[in-house]
Amino acid sequence: MSENNSRVVVVTGGSKGIGRSVCLKFAEEKARIVIVHYDTDDIAANETLNALAERGVEAESHKLDVSSFEAVDVLFNDIFSRFEKIDVLVNNAGITRDTLLMRMNEEDWDAVISVNLKSVFNCTRAVIRSMIKQRSGSICNISSVVGQIGNAGQANYSASKAGIMGFTKTVAREVAARGITVNGVAPGFIDTEMTAVLSEKAKEFFIRQIPSGNIGRPEDVAEAVYWLCSDAANYITGQILHVNGGLYM
Ligand SMILES: NC(=O)c1ccc[n+]([C@@H]2O[C@H](COP(=O)([O-])OP(=O)(O)OC[C@H]3O[C@@H](n4cnc5c(N)ncnc54)[C@H](O)[C@@H]3O)[C@@H](O)[C@H]2O)c1
Repeated sequence: MSENNSRVVVVTGGSKGIGRSVCLKFAEEKARIVIVHYDTDDIAANETLNALAERGVEAESHKLDVSSFEAVDVLFNDIFSRFEKIDVLVNNAGITRDTLLMRMNEEDWDAVISVNLKSVFNCTRAVIRSMIKQRSGSICNISSVVGQIGNAGQANYSASKAGIMGFTKTVAREVAARGITVNGVAPGFIDTEMTAVLSEKAKEFFIRQIPSGNIGRPEDVAEAVYWLCSDAANYITGQILHVNGGLYM
């Protein structure tokens, strides 16, 4: 394993949607890819693994709740013991529990903050010591446009995504001198299962507000993530790159 120089990339929420596109993008350089997901079954994760295998990429998937500090710690120790390093961490796992604040209960709040924000702490904490030691590494955190501009019905979600922005900038400052970049990508309205639940009326309403006039594709986000984690972007850290068709400028 140690003779293999290809990058080791961990993508949380890599089974489908944006995370799957990120995996397929990293497959182009034949990176070794570890997917973490928490779907009820392994169907989507296996589809992603098959697509990666077709491209000749070494990949594996783990079903695990990234909001659990202990579970993340165990998994990352296991990855380090077998791959010896992690070069790229993409903190992409996320959920929504949308409702107006008036109706939002404690569970809606805690679940979204834990899965979307605490997970970013858990996974980043798990890789940072090793990245500092190897004096290189890239971390990309998936935020959201609503972390910047807010969205009625998403107090929990937008707070988690704004939290990711602050976390990203702080950790970027802490590790910049060690050759590690920490950036965020804030997607706008992207066509995935997360947005598929919206009614046609709601979709039309959102699309009317996007200057480009169309919904984004997971690949649009993956391109930005990949570039921020590439050598081409090694002087870019603590930034949030918005991928949103102009919805927020
Ligand atoms: N789709 C959009 O319009 C949009 C816009 C802005 C930001 N985002 C963000 O992009 C990221 C990916 O979203 P998507 O649209 O691809 O969503 P998706 O629902 O298609 O995929 C979500 C992924 O996260 C994983 N996940 C959920 N809870 C988890 C947990 N507790 N532990 C481990 N994995 C877990 C799922 O298993 C799945 O792999 C999310 O962070 C989301 O908030 C999406």
